[in-house]
Amino acid sequence: MSTPINIDVLNAAAAALKSMCPDAGVKCGIILGSGWGAAVEDFQGLEMAYDKIPGLGKTGVMGHAGKLLCTEVDGMPVHIYQGRRHWYEGEGWTPVILPVYLLKMMGADTVLLTNASGGIRDDLGPGSLVAISDHINQLGANPLTGPHRPELGTRFPDQTEVYRKTLRGKLLNAGADAEGVYIATSGPTFETPAEINQYKSMGADLVGMSTVPEAIVANAMGLQVAGLSCVCNWAAGISEHPLTHEDVNRTAADTMPRMKSTITRLLKDLAANGTD
Ligand code: HPA
Repeated sequence: MSTPINIDVLNAAAAALKSMCPDAGVKCGIILGSGWGAAVEDFQGLEMAYDKIPGLGKTGVMGHAGKLLCTEVDGMPVHIYQGRRHWYEGEGWTPVILPVYLLKMMGADTVLLTNASGGIRDDLGPGSLVAISDHINQLGANPLTGPHRPELGTRFPDQTEVYRKTLRGKLLNAGADAEGVYIATSGPTFETPAEINQYKSMGADLVGMSTVPEAIVANAMGLQVAGLSCVCNWAAGISEHPLTHEDVNRTAADTMPRMKSTITRLLKDLAANGTD
């Protein structure tokens, strides 16, 4: 059921993007998750609707704008993907990991992945901003399954430090409250309380339905990865209420000023000092 990544689609998208912004020389990319669009509203630049890039298509979930913003922060070229595709959409890995591939093809060496999550650890309640320190892949699948594609890295990529320590430090300096381990489930259902208990005992601090596929591929391709999660609700069973996507978006909106300042500070730090 897991169709391998389609390299032809990725390369067609990269060719189309290069023809639209030939000399971008991108340094850093951001892939924004649920409800994060307003975090970059102050950045100006060339905007490209996702349907202009073959294979990327439209994002269907509320809170996902579906456009690429090509901008600059203190002279550092940055590409910001506003909206991500998810494994639960059922269209395979290609649209999910396409932004990562495009960033690499445009010359980026660093990517920031953002998402919304449910808090499992006691100190990670709604409104917490968490620098992802590591992940657990509970998707039941891996985007690199299939014939080996050297364009996507080695056959057996090391994952000892997917989320670079230096970038985690920069995120904490920029405004993140804590570090934590993110567990990705396939969705689209939220978890059951029994699943959350299990994930807690496995060492997970926060739970969501994204980010891990992009992190796996970005790391395999040699990009430096940072992950920033906005905890939008207590996870199932810890929360006293049923979970809804609307509540997730509401907390993301309430936390927007901090998300915005954290991303802006991180980008300024990267522009001034590079990744290390
Ligand atoms: N579970 C999974 N994904 C999520 C959650 C959650 O509780 N909150 C935001 N995204």
